[in-house]
Amino acid sequence: MKLDKKEILKALENITVPGEGQNMVESGAVKNVVVFGDEVVVDITINNPSLQARKKTEVEILKVIHAEVYEKAKITVNVKVDAPAAKPKVNEIKGKPVPGIKNIIAVASGKGGVGKSTVTANLAVSLAKMGFKVGLLDADIYGPSMPIMFDVAQEKPLAVNIDGKSKMKPVENYGVKILSIGFFTQPGQAVIWRGPMAAKALNQMIFDAHWGELDFMLLDLPPGTGDIHLSIMQSLPITGAVVVSTPQEVALADARKGVAMFQQDSINVPVLGIIENMAYFTPEELPNNKYYIFGKEGAKHLAEDLKVPFLGEIPLVQSIREAGDVGRPAALQTATAIENSFEEITKKVVQEVVGRNEHLPPTEAIKITTMAGCSAVKKK
Ligand SMILES: Nc1ncnc2c1ncn2[C@@H]1O[C@H](COP(=O)(O)OP(=O)(O)OP(=O)(O)O)[C@@H](O)[C@H]1O
Ligand SMILES: [Mg+2]
Repeated sequence: MKLDKKEILKALENITVPGEGQNMVESGAVKNVVVFGDEVVVDITINNPSLQARKKTEVEILKVIHAEVYEKAKITVNVKVDAPAAKPKVNEIKGKPVPGIKNIIAVASGKGGVGKSTVTANLAVSLAKMGFKVGLLDADIYGPSMPIMFDVAQEKPLAVNIDGKSKMKPVENYGVKILSIGFFTQPGQAVIWRGPMAAKALNQMIFDAHWGELDFMLLDLPPGTGDIHLSIMQSLPITGAVVVSTPQEVALADARKGVAMFQQDSINVPVLGIIENMAYFTPEELPNNKYYIFGKEGAKHLAEDLKVPFLGEIPLVQSIREAGDVGRPAALQTATAIENSFEEITKKVVQEVVGRNEHLPPTEAIKITTMAGCSAVKKK
């Protein structure tokens, strides 16, 4: 009988950690699970140093694995005692603040291909149209999209000398400053990076670049909730995260994981809200017809369920895709329904950032006032 690590972790989720309201896996007490055929070694760290607590934990683990996974499993439990770790403060911002950059907003999804990059590009141009100073950092090391979506694939960031130091100058188009990992790789070259390396490259694109003053820096993340995300989130001062999902069940399940990732203790990035992309299909020639091909209002319901703000919906429209491909984000079109829907969502994002910043310590606080539907940033 070959034991399955996943099943063992699932079984361990039945054990709650006293006083924490979390199970042993969620709380991070389970450090390692190694399976050798029908043998399993569980490494565990607990806060309570008493012999009784250790014994109790060990017995519980044996019981639950025997009951839930395999009654004849040979189990070794290594219990280590660790002093309780200080819990991070709620809404604490990680990483060092970036001089001149007021808000960093991460756009994530969970599932790939749901339109993160499309949404990020359009949020960026909408913010720029409203008069904000906007930067866009394409952090998708697997498939950087921004050079194409902003029609700057042929450009390279130049070096500029700032106070005796050489810095990267972001490429600019449509009022948005852009850096992308795509500017530094060969077209067609696959980049295989581990989390810490990716975080280092991104750190350089933030700290060793001359962004100047920015009201918003948008971060287009790769899909998923992996190692790379954890490294990025822990090293950069992210103000808040926006999660993009289609209404489809498989996308929603991953979006839920995305929200959970930001909300876990070690990350603790406030979720500004969920955007429903491809909410319905509208043919260009029949603008009043809506076809809910991926299901109806799935992301809206997810937001309600998770008690995070719903930021709005974007229809599946051919011109949005075409605009992305030709490198001129659809929100740049004037007086169209598409421009309006991006503008509404952008305003909602700004409002959520304002609300979120009211809870920030004074050093990071900025004042954004929303005036007659448009917004402006006031410096302190
Ligand atoms: N609302 C929309 N209407 C029409 N096409 C869309 C819409 N949103 C995204 N697309 C198209 O869907 C495809 C995937 O979008 P996009 O690249 O933005 O997704 P992504 O989540 O960033 O993907 P990845 O996970 O690969 O980074 C693109 O071809 C894009 O043009
Ligand atoms: Mg993308």
